[in-house]
Amino acid sequence: MLKISNIKKSFGKNEILKGVDITVEKGDVVVLLGPSGAGKTTLLRCINFLEQADDGEFEFDDIKTNFKKASKKTIAQIRKKTAFVFQNYNLFNNKTAIENVMEGLVTARKIPKAEAYDIAKKALAKVGLSDREDYYPISLSGGQQQRVGIARAIAVNPDVILFDEPTSALDPEIIGEVLSVMKSLAKEGTTMIVVTHEMSFAEEVANHIVFMDGGVIVEEGSPREIFYHPKEERTKQFLKRITPAIPEYNI
Ligand SMILES: Nc1ncnc2c1ncn2[C@@H]1O[C@H](COP(=O)(O)OP(=O)(O)OP(=O)(O)O)[C@@H](O)[C@H]1O
Ligand SMILES: [Mg+2]
Repeated sequence: MLKISNIKKSFGKNEILKGVDITVEKGDVVVLLGPSGAGKTTLLRCINFLEQADDGEFEFDDIKTNFKKASKKTIAQIRKKTAFVFQNYNLFNNKTAIENVMEGLVTARKIPKAEAYDIAKKALAKVGLSDREDYYPISLSGGQQQRVGIARAIAVNPDVILFDEPTSALDPEIIGEVLSVMKSLAKEGTTMIVVTHEMSFAEEVANHIVFMDGGVIVEEGSPREIFYHPKEERTKQFLKRITPAIPEYNI
């Protein structure tokens, strides 16, 4: 469904993505792991053209382009097929939950307001927020704000949802409510690429794990392969550092 080959991106003199390949099939949940600065956010942002990569081939269903040469029309088509869930929610503070979910439907997708309202209502119900439709972000907990962020992503009915550390700004007690929404989306067959440090989520939900460091993929495979039988020393080190208390990770 989605195939990226040899994507490269520099900021000034710093080469952040040094030729990354990723293939995602429909229904896949791909978890991207890696230390801070590995290039995970940059990769997600390039997939969504929030950032324009310097080079690399991109295939998304019948769309084929080079990241560098993509036309405005192609970028618009790709954006329509993707949705992004941000670490810090990125909600409009002067709009209610339902208005936040409607915004992209009305402005970017030109869906009539009444129809957008119905879609947004359903999306909020799906993330368990029917009773918070008219709340402004300031009156919602972090977990609820992030669920509005997820409702906004599913409302546009994308082919793939990109999650960038969706729970890392949340208190530990409310991480679970967001992860459980993500789990149910995965169960329904939603295609997702997720940057997260939630290892139990990754192990349970992902069907493919990609471990990145220094702008390249160090190792990838099934959760079983990566978590229990990592081949690369760098992967072992990383897992040991982030999950020191779990004996089976101390390989
Ligand atoms: N807009 C930008 N301008 C300049 N440098 C940038 C920009 N965005 C990212 N970088 C640099 O690119 C590198 C990779 O950043 P990126 O945010 O992709 O890492 P990450 O793997 O998501 O890390 P983290 O786990 O901390 O979120 C970092 O060194 C960062 O400083
Ligand atoms: Mg990041």
